[in-house]
Amino acid sequence: MNTVVITGASSGIGLETAKILTQNGFHVIGVSRSEENCKRAKEKILSENPNAQITFMQADLMQQREVVKVAESITLYLNNSGNGELYALINNAACIRSWYMTTEEGYEQQFALNHLAGFLLTYKLLPALIKAKGCVIMTGSGSHRGIKVHWDDIMLNRRYNPLIAYKQSKLCNLLFAKGLNDRYAKDGIRAYVVDPGLVNTDIGNKGTGGLVNFVWSLRKKHGVSPDVPAKTYAFLCEQKDRQNGLYYYLCKEINYSKEVTCENANRLFELSERLCGIRYEGKEMVAV
Ligand SMILES: NC(=O)c1ccc[n+]([C@@H]2O[C@H](COP(=O)([O-])OP(=O)(O)OC[C@H]3O[C@@H](n4cnc5c(N)ncnc54)[C@H](OP(=O)(O)O)[C@@H]3O)[C@@H](O)[C@H]2O)c1
Repeated sequence: MNTVVITGASSGIGLETAKILTQNGFHVIGVSRSEENCKRAKEKILSENPNAQITFMQADLMQQREVVKVAESITLYLNNSGNGELYALINNAACIRSWYMTTEEGYEQQFALNHLAGFLLTYKLLPALIKAKGCVIMTGSGSHRGIKVHWDDIMLNRRYNPLIAYKQSKLCNLLFAKGLNDRYAKDGIRAYVVDPGLVNTDIGNKGTGGLVNFVWSLRKKHGVSPDVPAKTYAFLCEQKDRQNGLYYYLCKEINYSKEVTCENANRLFELSERLCGIRYEGKEMVAV
């Protein structure tokens, strides 16, 4: 049975994706920040499908030491329960903030969770992904368009705008996926980004206040149900012949920002490696 890791699987898009993938015969390891929400999500999945192969691991992915710890637990689990292969990693956990807030490392929280956590977790799980010639799927957003990465102030701490910080983190999701393809396509790894569209979840009501909370409460009502984008993750996980595209919406390849270049991807890799204290290999940056 193929194993898929989904971060942020305790609610919203991640939970619906866990449901559909377990229904379709995958073993899912869900990772999320709250023990209680993980337990509730597991019960929900099993109540709808008692045969679901579902495991949850708790980790606050905002903190790098917890990313490293959960990656070690996943690797141990994969080695003990099978052949150590990871078929797919879905980096989906993310947050929205109203104010400048930092992690233990002093990193801005949206950048840390929405980009760096996936960057570090993927690095730690690469050996298992390479064994399976697996794929990495990022949850992106149409909001990545219309901005550039603020290279001289990536945490935006000089002039903080929470919306720009969110949009930039979503642009980073595409740059990361592009950089992964450039480096690891030769190892059989493929990275994709799913654009879920506007989805009715509580993301903008968690850890936010005032205006952001109010605006999201109105906006989310126009969103689709999370089971709609979940189908695109299933489509990408179930393909017989690997899709060659990068960015997918409703199971179809769509275009993305012109900022998603090889040069910007390389620059983001170098910066993120420094911020995570790691070094990805495969430096022959072959554009694919
Ligand atoms: N909703 C939309 O319209 C929309 C549009 C474009 C892109 N997206 C993207 O879709 C993805 C999923 O968001 P969603 O809308 O489904 O919202 P959501 O329901 O709030 O899902 C976010 C998930 O991440 C988890 N999480 C939050 N902070 C975490 C942390 N520090 N460590 C580990 N896990 C953490 C949450 O756990 P809890 O269950 O404990 O809160 C939850 O499971 C995000 O990447 C978001 O940027 C959403």
